[in-house]
Order: sequence, then C-alpha cells, then structure tokens
Amino acid sequence: MITVKTDAEIACMRESGKLTKNVLDLIGREIRIGMTTKELDKIAYDYIKSCGAYPSFLGYSGYPASICASIDDVVVHGIPSDDVVIKDGQLVSIDVGVVYNGWQGDAARTFMVGNVSQEKRKLVKVTEECFFKAIERLRDGTPLGDIGYQVQTHAENNGFSVVRALVGHGIGREMHEDPTVPNYGKKGTGIRLKKGMTIAIEPMINAGVYQVDFMSDGWTVRTRDRKPSAHYENTIAITENGVEILTL
Ligand code: MF3
Ligand code: CO
Repeated sequence: MITVKTDAEIACMRESGKLTKNVLDLIGREIRIGMTTKELDKIAYDYIKSCGAYPSFLGYSGYPASICASIDDVVVHGIPSDDVVIKDGQLVSIDVGVVYNGWQGDAARTFMVGNVSQEKRKLVKVTEECFFKAIERLRDGTPLGDIGYQVQTHAENNGFSVVRALVGHGIGREMHEDPTVPNYGKKGTGIRLKKGMTIAIEPMINAGVYQVDFMSDGWTVRTRDRKPSAHYENTIAITENGVEILTL
C-alpha cells in the first residue's frame, strides 16, 4: 500500500531528512585516509543520538550498525568494521537512515578519498547526475517507470551499468514502504506518482557489469566483476509542480 502524506507529515519528514543530510555532511568533513569505517559509524551514531533521533539501520533485520560503508566494488550494505581502513584512491559510499519523531529519512553519498582515478571520478559524477535526471521532470502524475528510464539511460549512455537486484523505495513512518523504485525501466509505465508520496531514489551504478554477488555475511553486496560501484540517494516528496528533496 502506498501512503500519501499530508503537508504536516511532510513537514515532519523535512526534519528527519535534515538530520540525515547533516550526518552525511559531517562524515564528508571527517572522512580521512587511515580511518576505519567503524570510526565513521561512531561519528554517525553519536550525532544522531545527540539530536534525540535514532539510526534506523541499527537493528533493522539484525543489521549491526548505524551506517552502511561500502568501498569500491562493494555496492551497498558494507558493514562498518575496525578492520576496514580507508585508503588513498577509494570510493567510500555512506548510506544512513534517521528516524525522528516517528518519521524516516534515508540518503547516501559516495565520497572520493585522496587521489581517485579518472574512471572512478566519472562514475561518481554520473551516479549523482542519474538522480538529478530522474527528478528533472518528476511531478504529480508522472509514471513511476520514468524514474528508472532516466537513470538507466544516463548511466548506459556513459558506458556504465545499473544494478537490478536492489531498488529504491517508498518511505515514511517505515524505512521501506511501497512502491519499489527500480533504477531501470520504461518510460510511461507503472503507477502514477501523486502529490504527497515520499520515495527514496537511489541509483547504484557499476563501472562494469550490472550483476552483483551477495556475500556470506548476509549483507555485503559486491559487483560480480569486482569493478567499482557508486551510490547516491535522497528522500524526496512529490509536489504538485515538481519534487522537494528532503535530504539535501
Ligand atoms: N538505505 C538502505 C536502503 O535504502 C537500507 C540499508 S539496509 C540496513 O534500502 F539494514 F542497513 F538498514
Ligand atoms: Co534507501
């Protein structure tokens, strides 16, 4: 069931969205070569708790941390660890969810650490552009399939591929609500988005093949060819004439 939010409810999501954005900004300022992903997790946890909010990933289906920290060929759901030290030239995707007053925010950024190769730089740029292409003409009445179409077209036009096994999602009181929001698809297909719907659009774009492998820890997702991947996500609200990005 797709939930449509009132203006008052979207105002609440604006607050959880703002906290979510703040976590990512904070991590962007703090991330350094030589740090562990566990240290980044602690920074996120401490900030979220200091705001009177809760990190929604922590305990979700047994997930053991507040953020996902996914390096290079890890697409998503990298578990923060004392053993994972950030190195020069890596792409570090940070995904975080915050619940505040009962409302969720969910967002991700891919940080480039130190001296990053041209190919990785392009991958990060194109992944961000995929999100912005997806929302460009999005408004009340737009078919859901247009999002995936825009993301896929932009990624593939740049020689990259779109992960199929993981998708974006509706969001609200729950982190994952209907509908699912694939990053691939056909223009003009699917349900029509309505004013007051809130969704997380999250392109996961691979430098090589689109296929991924699920690791035996139950979480970590890697590209099958072990080439790099980037992730960019925002929670948005559909408005009459466009969208409002709640986590930017
Ligand atoms: N942010 C992810 C998503 O968009 C959720 C991470 S899974 C978790 O679906 F277990 F870490 F929460
Ligand atoms: Co999400």
